[in-house]
Amino acid sequence: MTDQISTLPSLVIKGKTIRVPIIQGGMGVGVSLYPLARAVAREGGAGIVSSACLDRLVEKRTGKKLNSYEAAYEEVSLSKTEGGIAGINIMFALQRDYEASVRGAIDAGADMIISGAGLPMGLPGIQDPKDTALIPIVSSARALDLICKKWERFGYRPDAVVLEGPLAGGHLGFKIDQVDLEENRLENLFGPVKDMAMKYGDIPIIVAGGIYTHEDIIKYIRMGAQGVQMGTRFLATIESSATEDYKKAVVMAQDEDIVVAHRPGSPCGLPFRVIKQSPMYVSAQQRLRKPKCDKGYVLLKDAEGKFTRCPAKVSNEEFFCICNGLLSSAGYNTDVEEPLYTVGTNASRIDGIIPVKTLMDELTGTVSPTKA
Ligand SMILES: Cc1cc2nc3c(=O)[nH]c(=O)nc-3n(C[C@H](O)[C@H](O)[C@H](O)COP(=O)(O)O)c2cc1C
Repeated sequence: MTDQISTLPSLVIKGKTIRVPIIQGGMGVGVSLYPLARAVAREGGAGIVSSACLDRLVEKRTGKKLNSYEAAYEEVSLSKTEGGIAGINIMFALQRDYEASVRGAIDAGADMIISGAGLPMGLPGIQDPKDTALIPIVSSARALDLICKKWERFGYRPDAVVLEGPLAGGHLGFKIDQVDLEENRLENLFGPVKDMAMKYGDIPIIVAGGIYTHEDIIKYIRMGAQGVQMGTRFLATIESSATEDYKKAVVMAQDEDIVVAHRPGSPCGLPFRVIKQSPMYVSAQQRLRKPKCDKGYVLLKDAEGKFTRCPAKVSNEEFFCICNGLLSSAGYNTDVEEPLYTVGTNASRIDGIIPVKTLMDELTGTVSPTKA
């Protein structure tokens, strides 16, 4: 491309300017903690910590017993210590800790709460968000419509929306047989979601899933997106809290190694993209291990309204214990479970582990990509 814009336009959400229109996607469990979020915020993007299992992770780091509220508060506060814009990703599927995480983040002054893995229908009703932007993640215009309608009850309109296509890492917002459909390619989802966002008053759209280069970002900005959210590229940075083995597995991964796990899959019930050589995925395929759910983050309410049911406790034919597998991939409770490595499809293009600054310089077009 010859007409490359070297400076990307800034992104404005809820009156705050994010100098570089790149949101680093929240990555649980324990991959996007404050060191990554803080570095991205410092470089002008939006740094996002993941709330998944955060009480346990922060407790390990600090030696202090913390609940989910306190852990979200602590991690968001630390992410903002070197300036810039920082927030938190709170998965709706983690029902038991959802509200406490939202409250902790708002009270800590998070610039944004990004919430997906289910439709966060009640998010604006939990607490007055004050300056915190509320940003749902959707995979269709219909989902955005449903959320906007529900949020009207609270007199609240999403401050932005993340549109995540099927090439993303983590959980996918598509049924397993819809992941590869042409109509679900991010480029094809974009138009209807843009129309819906305009209908509700020009809600800024952040696209996610398979964005890799500076040119990709420009392509979507020219299509009418206001920004991008990227996960996998930040996974293999020095500041990411994934283990060295995880980062090496990303560097080694080839196209054919990246698969969508389903039966056995995530107890959240959504397809989940993994590196097929992940030790836990190999064992789960061969039914070598019984799921050992002793954490209880992905819990559903029982008949008495108590959070006791985890699908992975019920069937290891259908589900694997995602909490323990992902905790292990961040270096925690490795004696309990083997690591499970989740990535986006573009992990096969990553050939080195680089500092956030180098990555941001490449993505903003300040310097050309270098070979590791
Ligand atoms: C290791 C990893 C963990 C992730 N964890 C979460 C998560 O906890 N919550 C969430 O909403 N999205 C999660 N995602 C999705 C990212 O936030 C992001 O939207 C997605 O990865 C974008 O696609 P890309 O990886 O192709 O850039 C995760 C992605 C990765 C790679």
